[in-house]
Amino acid sequence: MITRIYEDYRRLSTNTAREMLRVVLEKPEAVLCLATGATPLGAYAEFVRQAKMQRIDFSGIRFVSLDEWVGIPPSNPGSCHYFLNRHLFQPLQIAPAQIYLFDGMSADLQGVCSRMDEHLEQLGGIDFLVVGIGLNGHIGFNEPGVAFDNKAHVVDLHPITKTTGQKYFQSETLLNQGITLGIRQLMDAKTVILMANGAKKTNIIQQALEGTVSNALPASILQSHPNCLAFLDAEAAAQLQDSSRRA
Ligand code: GLP
Repeated sequence: MITRIYEDYRRLSTNTAREMLRVVLEKPEAVLCLATGATPLGAYAEFVRQAKMQRIDFSGIRFVSLDEWVGIPPSNPGSCHYFLNRHLFQPLQIAPAQIYLFDGMSADLQGVCSRMDEHLEQLGGIDFLVVGIGLNGHIGFNEPGVAFDNKAHVVDLHPITKTTGQKYFQSETLLNQGITLGIRQLMDAKTVILMANGAKKTNIIQQALEGTVSNALPASILQSHPNCLAFLDAEAAAQLQDSSRRA
């Protein structure tokens, strides 16, 4: 894992966007899996801005879901669907045929998972993955205790996820389950960027990057990914023992 520490959120975002642009330019048929959440917002805004300015052709790029809340419709601004549409798919005018997302409203969630597994296999896996980290160390909705050989699955959300997740919703929302790609599929991604910013993430980032690799802290598995970049701002990196990795 290569760690890069940026002075502030703006630089973290710009540099993440640069890596994203590099991928879509190098591989016009790339499969991207992009996390939702507050962390990557600045990176996505910069990515969209640059992509439009450079008139990048997205017609061959494919997108797959990382995760979704169960029971939350795409019309709800707190859903991952809504986020991806608003911040990426609409501004980049991505055609529906290029997008494959989890349907968290389905009556057959197991079927949704198997179809995602099949779809991802047909695509040949993820080329480029951006993940954030939860305060409990989750990536996607791979919560503490998750099996590292899992593929797409439905999960009972951890109490911290249920509480923290409220920030995405306009009013208090019942969050019980999520649906997520599994660690095995994330570890198969050719390139991974783990992003974190802000003082809230300082402690969990230190454990994830420098602690023991364990499913008690799912993001720690990324230490063993052959091509993972941890992009952090100075606040999130504040407790890392090895601070020689400033960008
Ligand atoms: C959420 C999502 C993740 C996200 C993470 C961090 O619950 N399931 O995909 O990356 O937690 O979110 P944030 O960037 O808002 O801190």
